[in-house]
Amino acid sequence: MNRIAIVTGSDRGMGKETALALANNHFTVIMACIDIPNANITCAEIKKRSGNENVFVKKIDLSSIASIKQFVQSFLQDFDHVNILINNAGIVTMKHEITEDGFGNIVAVNTIGPYLLTKLLIPHFPAGEDNRIINMSSWIYKFGKFSIDKMNKYHYVKAYAVSKYAQLLITLELADELKEKGITINAANPGTVRTTIMYTNNRFYDFIIDMLMAPLYISIEEGARTGIYLATSDEVKNKTGNLYHKCRPVVIPKRDNNKILRTKLLRYYETIYKSIAEIHPRCPG
Ligand SMILES: NC(=O)c1ccc[n+]([C@@H]2O[C@H](COP(=O)([O-])OP(=O)(O)OC[C@H]3O[C@@H](n4cnc5c(N)ncnc54)[C@H](OP(=O)(O)O)[C@@H]3O)[C@@H](O)[C@H]2O)c1
Repeated sequence: MNRIAIVTGSDRGMGKETALALANNHFTVIMACIDIPNANITCAEIKKRSGNENVFVKKIDLSSIASIKQFVQSFLQDFDHVNILINNAGIVTMKHEITEDGFGNIVAVNTIGPYLLTKLLIPHFPAGEDNRIINMSSWIYKFGKFSIDKMNKYHYVKAYAVSKYAQLLITLELADELKEKGITINAANPGTVRTTIMYTNNRFYDFIIDMLMAPLYISIEEGARTGIYLATSDEVKNKTGNLYHKCRPVVIPKRDNNKILRTKLLRYYETIYKSIAEIHPRCPG
């Protein structure tokens, strides 16, 4: 069976590097991107560098439920299954906005949108195949303690940390359910990587932060390595429900692996998912 991978936010940064690696590994790659002109340029580059013509661009805006559903519908018009989903896209911004669906913008793009995308795609992972989901988390999750009722109200760095903690908790929470469906799910912490996500605010003093951070940054290639490992290595074929850094599982301290918060978070995300499935009965899944 043709192996199909979806990588969100793959027109630049680690997503681009990941899409290239999967194309090199003979996957059919769907680049799920918001900036279509840039994604088309990147797609052409990936095809040329990999020699793989089966790389396609499809539009997704993870801050919009309507766009996520349109993406899934468009994907299913052209493809009948998916084997790898990499929830890579992410933002960090000083602008706290409420999305059209009523969520905080950072939380929407980094964790609620990826959850809805994952749920809509789950029925399309083929039984008996090597199926994997990889969620991008971050070491910053350590600063992301949150309560669900305030989740969409946090700003900037706190909102980013909350979104990455939520993304980790939901990864852990989904692992058992997905195991029964023959899908593994893991989170990746890439490290501190020199990508545009660090420069989205364009503040006059950003160059000072950049100078101070310079010794800590790793390259995009190095940062992408753990996600690519989780997507492609036989070593992790049946491994699920872990956080990885530098291609190794990381022990998550008990105090961070909050079972009560995990359960509440899943209930909250499921309520959102069910509400969209009910409002839009033709919604796949
Ligand atoms: N860089 C780091 O140090 C670091 C550390 C830990 C975790 N991470 C995580 O790693 C992942 C990749 O980040 P990166 O560092 O490679 O950043 P990046 O180069 O800025 O890439 C982020 C990608 O997400 C896309 N994106 C943003 N908003 C979107 C939306 N509403 N819908 C769909 N796509 C959207 C961006 O699209 P456009 O740019 O075209 O708008 C871009 O393709 C993120 O989840 C990030 O949180 C990064």
